[in-house]
Amino acid sequence: MNAILKKKFFRRKEQTEIQWLNQQLTEPEFLIKKDWVIANIKYKLKLIDLNLSDTYNRKIMQKVEYRVKKADSIARKLIKKGYPATFENAKNKLNDIIGIRVVCLYSDDVYKISDRLKLQKDFTLIKEKDYIKTPKKSGYQSLHLILDIPVICDQTTEYQRVEIQIRTVAMDFWAGVDNHICYKKNPDEIKKAEADLKNYSAVISNMDKQMLNLRKKVEKM
Ligand code: GTP
Ligand code: MG
Repeated sequence: MNAILKKKFFRRKEQTEIQWLNQQLTEPEFLIKKDWVIANIKYKLKLIDLNLSDTYNRKIMQKVEYRVKKADSIARKLIKKGYPATFENAKNKLNDIIGIRVVCLYSDDVYKISDRLKLQKDFTLIKEKDYIKTPKKSGYQSLHLILDIPVICDQTTEYQRVEIQIRTVAMDFWAGVDNHICYKKNPDEIKKAEADLKNYSAVISNMDKQMLNLRKKVEKM
């Protein structure tokens, strides 16, 4: 097969895979289970927020967002990781088909929320990635918890993996700008912006520390 034909063949194969994935991601059973898992986490986070806000006498969670990865983005990620773009691989090889983001004011709130999530006996912690303690090369900061959430029906328990990103408003601001300007774009075009963003990540980390110190000072007054 010559190069152009090969490219065409793979593009068509990819399109078929994406269509097939899309079909499975919109199957009623998957949709119900996905809604179940999101509702489960949503209520859990509401309760945790209520408890923590009560304990600390201020609103702890500023924003909670949910998103379900789209078929083309799942396919792209699987292919990049070297797996065929199948529904089974999407479920077994990716952590973030369902993604939840919790945003709070102060960096110590991130750990309060994470500690409470890890306490839940129906959630299984698969992995914790602390990009606050050790930011990514890009400068990205956030705490990620990869959790298995049960869906129980009759005698069976099925688990759905989710990624929960917990971060401060400042870290969220940085990630939003980074996502707009750099993330997963052509590296040659954005070298300079990447270097600037890395510097701003340090600025934000410093700002988070100062805000936390300020809060602690005010609390002692
Ligand atoms: P992907 O990066 O998504 O392929 O997953 P991974 O298995 O490498 O996990 P990782 O913890 O690196 O990233 C998971 C998610 O964190 C991503 O999907 C993004 O939402 C976010 N993230 C990771 N790195 C960056 C970054 O450099 N910038 C921004 N804006 N977000 C990032
Ligand atoms: Mg990554």
